[in-house]
Amino acid sequence: MPHIVLDQVTKSFGVHQVLPPLDLDLDDGEFTVLVGPSGCGKSTTLRILAGLEIPSSGEIYFDDQPISALEPKDRDVAMVFQDYALYPHMNVAKNMSFALRLARVPKAEIDEKVKQVAALLNIQDYLHRKPAELSGGQRQRVAMGRVLVRDAGTFLFDEPLSNLDAQLRAKMRTELAEMRDKIDKNMIYVTHDQTEAMTLGDRIVVMKGGVIQQQGTPEALFKRPANKFVAGFIGSPPMNFLHGELSETNGSFRVRGDGFDLPLNDEQRSRLETASRPVEIGIRPSAFSADSQAGAPIDLHLVVSEYLGAHSVLVTRCGVEDVLVEYDSATPMKAGTTMTFGVRSDDIMLFDVTTGVTL
Ligand SMILES: Nc1ncnc2c1ncn2[C@@H]1O[C@H](COP(=O)(O)OP(=O)(O)O)[C@@H](O)[C@H]1O
Ligand SMILES: [Mg+2]
Repeated sequence: MPHIVLDQVTKSFGVHQVLPPLDLDLDDGEFTVLVGPSGCGKSTTLRILAGLEIPSSGEIYFDDQPISALEPKDRDVAMVFQDYALYPHMNVAKNMSFALRLARVPKAEIDEKVKQVAALLNIQDYLHRKPAELSGGQRQRVAMGRVLVRDAGTFLFDEPLSNLDAQLRAKMRTELAEMRDKIDKNMIYVTHDQTEAMTLGDRIVVMKGGVIQQQGTPEALFKRPANKFVAGFIGSPPMNFLHGELSETNGSFRVRGDGFDLPLNDEQRSRLETASRPVEIGIRPSAFSADSQAGAPIDLHLVVSEYLGAHSVLVTRCGVEDVLVEYDSATPMKAGTTMTFGVRSDDIMLFDVTTGVTL
């Protein structure tokens, strides 16, 4: 499988530049997820890799060889599209083997490959059914199987689960994660869903407006987001952001705002250097401890409690801003009360007010 590099690749449609110069270097055999809001250029990037779209400038390299001049079929790439269409008159086995039969691969080899991929996708019992006799999830798997039987070095997936309902999507996500470990190929997977990105990616590339915001392991993106956008995009429920003012008393820093006054630690202090700068703080919903002694106290006014069974998501207000809190409670909480939580300095992230860059 090739080592893929995008070097200053741009794409414009008319005057509209969708991708400003984009650099990307993918390790071979990695499962890479491109994630970002709708319209940020994920599909365009994938289509450029597949050869379905020509870059306006820049070059793509597979193992140091430029490939821009290569036809899609000569790129050793196979792609699963968001809007897949199965051949309705062919059964699952025929659908899956279509490309191989076209390429005149010997029958025994085709049968073996279809069997192997069907087992991987858990559709071995449906090989003789027509698409109309399958559930949405099964059809989705056949669409994937049709591509996986091909012996490509790189597989591209464009939001393959987005047509499924939430429950099926979660199930397929787990199955994909299991399958991922059995396939030693380049996999590049596009989604707007951060949960899919977090559960599937060896490496996640977060995009916004065609620009890569950050790339790294799921853990790195969650624990050390490079900016406010990534901090707010990765993690569910999303991070809370509050406007704050820094102040210095007796050599230590605090951050104050409408309804809160929290101490910062020495490490944060050393990164900030001066107290005379505006900051925005970020606190994850999971960082509020019901034990108010477990950190500095913060009072939150409970507006709505979303009871989920084992825990609740509390919608609270701090000053005029909404703050989400993940709260371990086996019983529903009563709205209208004020609760005191503990927040550790370590769990407070600081962002530059103007640029959004993590401080
Ligand atoms: N063929 C096209 N012609 C004009 N604009 C396009 C075309 N394809 C995509 N775009 C625009 O490029 C931007 C990025 O699209 P796309 O890559 O499909 O985003 P994503 O997959 O991240 O949702 C969007 O603003 C979209 O409208
Ligand atoms: Mg898309």
